[in-house]
Amino acid sequence: MCGIVGYIGRRDVAPLLLEGLQRLEYRGYDSAGLVITGKAAAGRSSALKMVKAKGRVRELESRVPKRFAGTTGIAHTRWATHGAPSDHNAHPHLDQDNKVAVVHNGIIDNATELRVKLEADGVVFLSETDTEVLTHLIARSQAETLEEKVRQSLKLVEGTYGIAVLHADFADRIVVARNGSPVVLGIGEKEMFVASDVAALVSHTRQVVTLDDGEMATIKADDFRTYTTEGSRTSATPTTVEWEAESYDMGGHDTYMHKEISEQSDAVDRVLRGRIDDRFSTVHLGGLNLDAREARGVRRIKILGCGTSYHAGLIGAGLIESLARIPADAEPASEFRYRNPVVDPDTLYIAVSQSGETYDVLAAVQELKRKGARVLGVVNVVGSAIARETDGGVYVHAGPEVCVVSTKCFTNTVVAFALLALHLGRIRDLSVADGKRIIAGLRDLPAQITEILESEAEIKKVADEYADAKSMMFIGRVRGYPVALEASLKLKEISYIHAEAYPASELKHGPLALIEPALPTVAIVPDDDLLEKNRAAMEEIKARSGRILAVAHQEQPKADHTILVPKNEPELDPILMGIPLQLLAYHTALALGRDIDKPRNLAKSVTVE
Ligand code: F6R
Repeated sequence: MCGIVGYIGRRDVAPLLLEGLQRLEYRGYDSAGLVITGKAAAGRSSALKMVKAKGRVRELESRVPKRFAGTTGIAHTRWATHGAPSDHNAHPHLDQDNKVAVVHNGIIDNATELRVKLEADGVVFLSETDTEVLTHLIARSQAETLEEKVRQSLKLVEGTYGIAVLHADFADRIVVARNGSPVVLGIGEKEMFVASDVAALVSHTRQVVTLDDGEMATIKADDFRTYTTEGSRTSATPTTVEWEAESYDMGGHDTYMHKEISEQSDAVDRVLRGRIDDRFSTVHLGGLNLDAREARGVRRIKILGCGTSYHAGLIGAGLIESLARIPADAEPASEFRYRNPVVDPDTLYIAVSQSGETYDVLAAVQELKRKGARVLGVVNVVGSAIARETDGGVYVHAGPEVCVVSTKCFTNTVVAFALLALHLGRIRDLSVADGKRIIAGLRDLPAQITEILESEAEIKKVADEYADAKSMMFIGRVRGYPVALEASLKLKEISYIHAEAYPASELKHGPLALIEPALPTVAIVPDDDLLEKNRAAMEEIKARSGRILAVAHQEQPKADHTILVPKNEPELDPILMGIPLQLLAYHTALALGRDIDKPRNLAKSVTVE
C-alpha cells in the first residue's frame, strides 16, 4: 500500500527512481512523484527538484524534464488515504522553503490536530494529506542535524509510518524511519537504496537490511547507520534476498495474474519440497518452534487473516479439524482485535498473511503476544513484520506475488495448512495409513494443477458466456464453502461484477429469492459424502430457471456447464477446486476489458487500518 524508493550514489537518479516506482506500482497507482537534489551554486545549499503526477508512473515519467540531473532522490507511488488522488496530494511533500521533502507510507492519526496548530502558526498547506504535516514539522525543527529534526518531529506524530526524508542543507544523506510500515535498505557498491519493498531493489542489489519498528537509518553513498528513534545505535546485519530479480518480471504473460496462476504447479512443488517424511508418514516444518509435547497440549486453534488469506485460513481450519482433530476456526483479523477476545492459554493462534505486512493481522498478533498467547505465522514474505513478530511458523514459498489479487499464494497457503494439519495429526491420532494417503494426495497436486490449467480455453469460453451477468452467486458446502467465498471475492475484485457466496444449505433461508435466469450460480460440487445434498441445491436453482456452472469431479446433469477437476483426497479437494475459478475470474475480467493487475480502488498489502 503505497511504495517508497530512494537512491544515493553516483548514478543518474531519475531513471533509477522511475524504474523502482514501476516495480512498486502494484502497491498503489493513483499518483506518483519524485524529488532529487540538484547541484548547488557555490556557498548555497543544493536545490530540490520535484515532479508529481496524478495517475500511473508512466504519466510521471512523461513529465520528467529531459535535463533532470542529480544523484540523490526519493520517490513515491500512492494509494490515497487522506485526500483524493491529484497532483498536489501526490508525494513527495515539500515545505514552504522547498528545503525538506518527505515521502510517507502509513497514516498519521493526529494529523488534523497538528495541522490546526501549524496553520495557526502561519503554515500554508498545499495538500490535504496527513504527510505534509510531517514535512512542516521537520522544516520548523530547530535541531542541528537532519536526524535530530526527524526524530523530534516523529515524537509529535501518532500513527504508522515508513518515511524517507531529503533535506537540501544535508544533501549527502537520506534519513528514513519505520513504525508499522516497512522500510528496507539496499546495500550496493558505493551506492545505497531504500525502499518499502525489496521488489524495487533486487535488480540492483540483494544485500538488504530491514528496519524494525522504532528504528531509523541514515544512508549515504558509501555508508549507512541504524539507530532507534531514541537515538541509540542498533546493529544491522545485512541479509540476502532469496527471490531473484527475474521472478518479478512478467515472463511472457500479458498480466502478472495470468503468470501467477500459471506458476501454481511449481509453487506447490516448492512448498512441499524437503518437508515430506515418508518414514513416519508426516512432514517436517523446521520453523514451527512447537515440540511434540507442546503440540499435544493445544486444545484449540484460532486462525486470523484478511481477505483471501482469511479464506485460506477457513480451509486450513477445516484441514486441522479433520486431520488433527483439534477444534479450529478462522476469523478476520480486524474483527478479532476489536471484540476484546478471550485469549485462552491452551489455544494456538495462527496469523496468515501473504505479505506479512497487513496491518490488521500484525496488530492482532501484537495484541495476542501482549496477552501472552503463542502465535504462529503462515506467511509468504520471508523476514516480513508478521514473520518476525510470531513465535514460529510455516513459510508458504510461493515466490513474489505482484498482481494485486492473490492467486498462487492462496493455493500455497492452503497447502501449507495441509502440511501443518498433517504434522499435528501425526503427533496426535492420525493413523499411518491416513498420513500416507494425505502425502500421496499432496504429491499428486502439482500434476493435477497442470491438468486443470490445460483446460483454460474451455474456462475462457464459459467466462465469455457469463461475462454479461450483473451479479453471480457462489455456493458450496463445508469444504466447498470457503472455495465459494474466495471465488466470489476474486470475481468481484477484478471484474467488478457483484457476487455473493453462500453455503448451499443456506439457499432456502433467503438467497433463493434472488435466483432467476439473469443470476448465474457457480456451484462447488466435489464427489464427496455431500454430493447428493449439493445436487438437491442445484435442483432447487434449476426449478427457478437459474443457470448453473458446476465445478465438479464428474459431469453434473443439472448444470448448464461443468468444469471438471481431477479428484484428490477429499480433504485436499478445495485446493484444486479453487484454481479453475481463478481462471474464470481472470477471463471474465479480460472479456470486460478490466485492468486486471491493478483493479480500481485496491492495492497490494494493506498496511493501514
Ligand atoms: C485478494 C487479496 C486480499 C489479501 C488481503 C490480505 O485477492 O489479495 O484480500 O488477501 O488483503 O493480504 P495478506 O495476505 O498480504 O495479509
